[in-house]
Amino acid sequence: MFDIRGKVFLAPMAGFTDKVFRRLCSRFGADVTVTEMVSSKALVLGSTKTKELISFSQEEKIRGVQIFGSDPEVMAQAAEILQDEFEYDFIDINMGCPVPKLVKSGEGCALMKNPSLASRIVERVAKVSRKPVSVKIRKGFDEESINAPEFAYILQESGASFVTVHGRTRKQLYSGKADWEIIRKVKERLKIPVVANGDITDFESAKRVYEITGADSIMIGRAALGNPWVFLQIKEGFEKGYVETEVLPHMKIRVAIEFFRQLCIEKGEKMAVLEARKHLSFFVKGIENAAKIRDKINRIDKATELLEFLEELVFSLEKKESFVDNML
Ligand SMILES: Cc1cc2nc3c(=O)[nH]c(=O)nc-3n(C[C@H](O)[C@H](O)[C@H](O)COP(=O)(O)O)c2cc1C
Repeated sequence: MFDIRGKVFLAPMAGFTDKVFRRLCSRFGADVTVTEMVSSKALVLGSTKTKELISFSQEEKIRGVQIFGSDPEVMAQAAEILQDEFEYDFIDINMGCPVPKLVKSGEGCALMKNPSLASRIVERVAKVSRKPVSVKIRKGFDEESINAPEFAYILQESGASFVTVHGRTRKQLYSGKADWEIIRKVKERLKIPVVANGDITDFESAKRVYEITGADSIMIGRAALGNPWVFLQIKEGFEKGYVETEVLPHMKIRVAIEFFRQLCIEKGEKMAVLEARKHLSFFVKGIENAAKIRDKINRIDKATELLEFLEELVFSLEKKESFVDNML
C-alpha cells in the first residue's frame, strides 16, 4: 500500500473535482485526489454517466474513488465493478454528505446515526476490495450526537485503512468553524491514519491543524477552488518555514485559461463554457471588479469569445492598468 501519511489531499467536491480540476490541483502539488461521490446503485446498474466520473489523468498521483450508498451488498458489488473496470489506489466511502436526498435514504452522514450498518458496509467492501478502503466522516450528525471518535473506531475495527474527518456536524453543513479538537480525539483513539479536513486554507492553518490534531495528513476543499496554488504554498511552507510564492491576478487568469482549454478538450466547447462559469467565479475572486467580470463571463456562451475575454483580462491585469472597466 502507498503511504498515506504526510500527504495533502484535494477533497472530493461534487460538481467541481472532475478529472480536469483534479489534474490541475495535482500539477500544483496535491498528492491525493478523490473523484466526486459516485452512487453505488448507479454503478451496479451500469450507468455510463456515473462511470464517466471515474476516469483519472496521468498527473494524478494517489487516486481515490468515492462511493456512497447504504446497502452493504450493493456497496460490495460496486467495489467489485470498480476493481474490474478501473485503475485507482483506494476506495473512499462517503459517510459525511449532508444533502437531504442522501440523508433521507440513510446514506452519507445518516450512516453516522447507524454505526452497525456503517460497520457492515465497511466490512463487506473491505472484504471484496483488493485496494485499501477509507471512510470520510463528519464530527457527528448533530450537536446532540457527536460521535466521531467512537464511530471511527468501529470503522477501523471493520477494516477501514484510514479515516478522513471533517470537523463539522451534518446540521452545520459548511457554516461555523470546523472543530479540530474532535479530529484530535479521533486521532488519539485510532491506530490507522487520520486525515484532517475543514477550514484548512493556507500554510498557517495547515501547520495549526497538524499541531492541534496530530493528524497524519490534511485535506483541502473549498480553499482549492480557483486557487490550486494552495497546495504549492502549503508544501513550500513546510519545506522552507515560510511561503514565498505570491499569486498575482494575471497568474490566476493565465491558469484559468489553461484550465478552460483543457475543459474544452475533455467536455466539448458547449459544456466547457457552462462548467467553466462556476470555476471562473472562484478564479476571479479578489480581482478588481470581480463582480462585473463574473457577470460578463456568465453572459458569454461561446468558447472562443470566452477565451478572447480572458486573454484581454490577462493583458489588462499584466499592464496593471485599470481599464477593465472599459471592456465591460
Ligand atoms: C461544492 C462541494 C461539494 C462537495 N462534495 C463532496 C462529495 O462529493 N463528497 C464528500 O465526501 N464531500 C464533499 N464535500 C465536502 C468536502 O469534501 C469537505 O469535506 C468540506 O468542504 C470541508 O473542507 P474545506 O473546509 O476544506 O472546504 C463537498 C463540499 C463542497 C463545498
